[in-house]
This record gives sequence, structure tokens and C-alpha cells, in this order.
Amino acid sequence: MVYYKKDRLYLNRLQLEKLVKKYGSPVYVYDLDGILQRLEEFQVAFENNVHVHYALKANSNPVILKAFKKAGIGIDTVSWGEVLLALKAGFKPNEIIFSGVGKSTEEIKAAVKRGLYQINIESPQELERVGKTAKKYKKIARVAFRINPDVNPQTHPYITTGFRENKFGMDTSFLPELKNILKKYPRNLELQGLTLHIGSQLLEHKSICEAIEKTIHIYKNFLNEGYPMKTFDVGGGIGIPYDGGVATSLKEYGSAVMKLLKPLGCTILSEPGRILVGPFGVLLTEVEYIKRSPSQNFAIVNTGMHHLIRPALYGAQHRIWPLKRRHEAEKYSYDVVGPICESSDFLGKHIEVHGLAQGDLLAILDAGAYGYSMANFYNARKLPKEIVIANGKAAVSPVSSVFKYSLP
Ligand SMILES: Cc1ncc(COP(=O)(O)O)c(C=O)c1O
Repeated sequence: MVYYKKDRLYLNRLQLEKLVKKYGSPVYVYDLDGILQRLEEFQVAFENNVHVHYALKANSNPVILKAFKKAGIGIDTVSWGEVLLALKAGFKPNEIIFSGVGKSTEEIKAAVKRGLYQINIESPQELERVGKTAKKYKKIARVAFRINPDVNPQTHPYITTGFRENKFGMDTSFLPELKNILKKYPRNLELQGLTLHIGSQLLEHKSICEAIEKTIHIYKNFLNEGYPMKTFDVGGGIGIPYDGGVATSLKEYGSAVMKLLKPLGCTILSEPGRILVGPFGVLLTEVEYIKRSPSQNFAIVNTGMHHLIRPALYGAQHRIWPLKRRHEAEKYSYDVVGPICESSDFLGKHIEVHGLAQGDLLAILDAGAYGYSMANFYNARKLPKEIVIANGKAAVSPVSSVFKYSLP
């Protein structure tokens, strides 16, 4: 986590201003030591009775992925491209869950042939496609049904997934059709569990527990009917306080989930993303221009919605702090905006900073999740570098292979 020492901003004992001097800006900086510590806290909250499958979509930095592999956890993916990133980082096919609502024929063929640990099924048609493919290649596909429990996760409407109106998961009325498809492919489909994921950035775990409670009887029914059930996947979704407030108690979350699922004797799977990486990344940027309009001051910086889309997409409010504090100068309110030709290209509105000037450096906090992984090349702009601090030392990370970009 970041902190000030003698008015200079630090992350994991390193002065961020010095990192910008060395590596330039804009730049993402991740604290890998913090990430691994958070992973341990997560596992301890479940008394180590949880199989963590990190949701790679939150941050697919290759150094972080390799560290997670070394820590012995699995991976959750939502596209074949993500599966490839996981394989490249050293994960074995039987450590990979394949989620996602729109898997193509090609993706399913690849997943079935590589024998992934679990394919999370989102519709009867998808199950049929998996069954047909597995039969064709004489394989057994291990599947879990994603249930839509119809609960209100109390988060931004763009990141709820467990409401009946959402495209994700399956209503219980789908179960007879799903069972018929299982019967059609008895040698090629193995129903091994159920899975849930009701939304992201959830600041309390009550709704996740409600979803589990609503789903347990389905698991028991399958078990009683002789299906080889063994996994209950509770998804991800635990949020972080972007305002720097008090985080969700992981211990309370872990205990509540365990209390519900321990009696089933199943393997508890979890797919955390944001909670593991979000607070341990910052996006550093330089002020290109200060523009004082009659109604608003703008700090135009060298990063924007193409590098961090969360403010534009979800109205997310990240804290934005100067790398060097100047208490003595007058404080003004700024809209911190990027260079992209869109009015939604802002990183923060009404950000109060003392004496901000051209050339000053700013840190956008809690940018470790859904930052770089959602970045894009809009306006034909390049992506920022990524720096990883491990064991207190910073190094430039190799570029994730899905994001190769070169300038002449
Ligand atoms: C299926 C699935 N699992 C896990 C996650 C990770 O969610 P979070 O980063 O909120 O923990 C997501 C994200 O939306 C998801 O769609």
C-alpha cells in the first residue's frame, strides 16, 4: 500500500518519484510482495480449506501470474487467450477453470482437448456443444453449472451478474434440459460441481452467502441423484474500498462461506480477482498541462481512459495523490483528464491538490485490478510500461503477450 514519508509517496519502501525518473511515465507499478501477502490472508481466512483460482482477467501481468503459480494456486479464465496466458505462466491444464458466457466452438474444442480442470457452463446450448465436442475427440469434459441465484449484490449495475435479468448463469428452470444433455453424453460429460459469481466490487459478503444458501439444495439434489459432485465454486467478487476506508473482513467472509459449505464435504473453489491485486497497483502519470477554464480547472495528464477505463465505465472514484506533497501552496480542485478525444476521458473529478503544476507527477491509487488488463489502443496510443516490485526491488515486467505493441 502507498504511504507518504517526508512528503514523498512510497510503495513497498520505494520512492515512486525515483521510479518515474528511472522508467518514465505513464507507468503501472505493482507491489508483488503485498499481493502475495494478501493471497495468504485470503487462504488463512478459509483456514486453508479453499482452492483459490485467481481470476486472471483482473490483472494478467506475467510476473504476477508466475508468482501465483509458484504460490501453488490455480487460475480462472474467461477466454482461450487467457488460458494461453495461464499456460505460458506455467499453469497446468488441470489447474485452470474455464468460465465465460460466450465460449466459441474453437475455444471449447481447445479446452476439451487440453483437459482443463473445469468448464463452467452458462447455457444448455453450451453444454450440448461441450458434450458433442468431447464425444468427437473421445474425451471426458468436467463441467460445473453456473447457477444464477437471482440475488441483489448491491454493486454498480454494470458489474452485477447474479440477477435474473443478467446474461450470466442459469435459472433453475434450465435444470431438466441440462440433465437431458448430460444423459445424452454419459461417457463424455462429467458434472463435477456448481459455480456462482454474482457480481464484482461487493463491499459486503451477505449477498454471496445468500446465493450459496439458495444453491446448496441443487448441489444436494444432484448428489442424491448419483452425479459425481465434488466442487462448489463461490466465484469472486469481494471488493476493495477505493476511498481508502475499511476493507471487507476476509476472515468473516471465509468463515461464513465455510460454515455453509463444510457440511457438504465438497472442494471449495474461489475465483478472487480484484481483492488480491487491486490495492497493490498504482498508475503514475505526469501533468502535461494545467488549464483553468471559467467553470473548472483541468489537469491534463499523460494517461487516460485507454489505460484506466474504470472511472469512465463505472464512474469509479480512485484516489489521486501527488508524488510530492506541497502543503504550503494553495489547494485547488481539478478534473484530472487524459489526452483521449472523448469527454468521458477522465481519471478523477474534483480532485483537490496543493499547488499542482505542469510537469508534476500524480499516482492513481488502487489501480492493480481491471487497469492494464482493460487497457486498449484507442486513438492509436501506446500502452504504459509495467513495473513489479518484488522483495523490495523494482524491475520492468515483460509485456503480456496479448498486448504486444511496438513503435518504429
Ligand atoms: C466468473 C468470474 N469469476 C471471478 C471474477 C473475479 O471477480 P472479482 O475481481 O470481482 O473478484 C469475475 C469477474 O467479473 C468473473 O466474471
